[in-house]
Amino acid sequence: MKTLTITRPDDCHLHVRNGAILKTVLPHTARQFARAIIMPNLKPPVTTVAQALAYRNEILQVIPEGVNFTPLMTLYLTAATTLEEIKRAAECEHVYAFKLYPAGATTNSDAGVADVTKIYPLLAALEKYDLPLLIHGEVTDEDCDIFDRERVFIERYLINIVENFPALRIVLEHATTKDAVEFVNSANDKIAATITPQHLLFNRNAILAGGIKPHYYCLPILKREAHRQTLINAATSGNPKFFLGTDSAPHLTHLKENACGCAGCYSAFAALELYAQAFEQANALDKLEGFASFYGADFYGLPRNVETVTLEKTNWTVSASYDEITPLKTGELLCWKMI
Ligand code: DOR
Ligand code: ZN
Repeated sequence: MKTLTITRPDDCHLHVRNGAILKTVLPHTARQFARAIIMPNLKPPVTTVAQALAYRNEILQVIPEGVNFTPLMTLYLTAATTLEEIKRAAECEHVYAFKLYPAGATTNSDAGVADVTKIYPLLAALEKYDLPLLIHGEVTDEDCDIFDRERVFIERYLINIVENFPALRIVLEHATTKDAVEFVNSANDKIAATITPQHLLFNRNAILAGGIKPHYYCLPILKREAHRQTLINAATSGNPKFFLGTDSAPHLTHLKENACGCAGCYSAFAALELYAQAFEQANALDKLEGFASFYGADFYGLPRNVETVTLEKTNWTVSASYDEITPLKTGELLCWKMI
């Protein structure tokens, strides 16, 4: 039996929600990953250190017995975020970053930032305290084509942010385009990007061809094949600017299979298997460990994990659902399995 053993990975972009969904999904991530950067887009959003610590406690309570998992908390940046809160976050050992959502860009982003240029004093504070800024990089203009929203965000805002704050560590989250890869490659070494399994495995046909498939709908939306190829090249390049962030984003099935379905793919149940499949298809399994287990930790200044995980080459069928959450590739075969 072919197996693959790598250092235990970290998920540098994860949604676990709260309440009942948290109980279902957190054990999936904790089984595979040593640590995860937890997104703050709850209702209401996690905007203060006090809220982040309360959310952290909620997460700690659902980690299965005997499993070693550390949630790394983030705060939701808003126009009302204060310099004092940023200082508190910098001083808190459990808070690792701030997340910037353009207002209206995605799930629970209403409290996000309407005009990024208005929050430059906050970005200056993040730069001063060396707190990373995690960006959902899409413009929200109604007249901007949804497939262009990432590129336009880079052109309109990101280039300027990087120029103005040269020491600010930035993650362009869930990069989906050739434009994003080129931007990150050409930017200074403070600039990195996460890449999701769905953007490595699928192009936009997965959502739209042969019937509409809401479980492949996420934001930023899947792009055309040429972009997927560029993402594969970036992820398998061994360049430490690109690392693993699943953006696993659970929604109840009825809210995705809906006239106005929610954005988000649930991948945490088999995140590593999905990445292994993408890397194997690119003949680059030897590059998976750096992408999954080293570069994210290095970016966040965390020690690399020392335990290992092992995947076995074996076919299995993805469940119909986990409680009321339909997983990515439901009913289909996966060819790797974590043991
Ligand atoms: O597809 C997505 N789902 N993209 C996001 O940016 C947010 C996420 C969610 O929270 O559901
Ligand atoms: Zn996300």
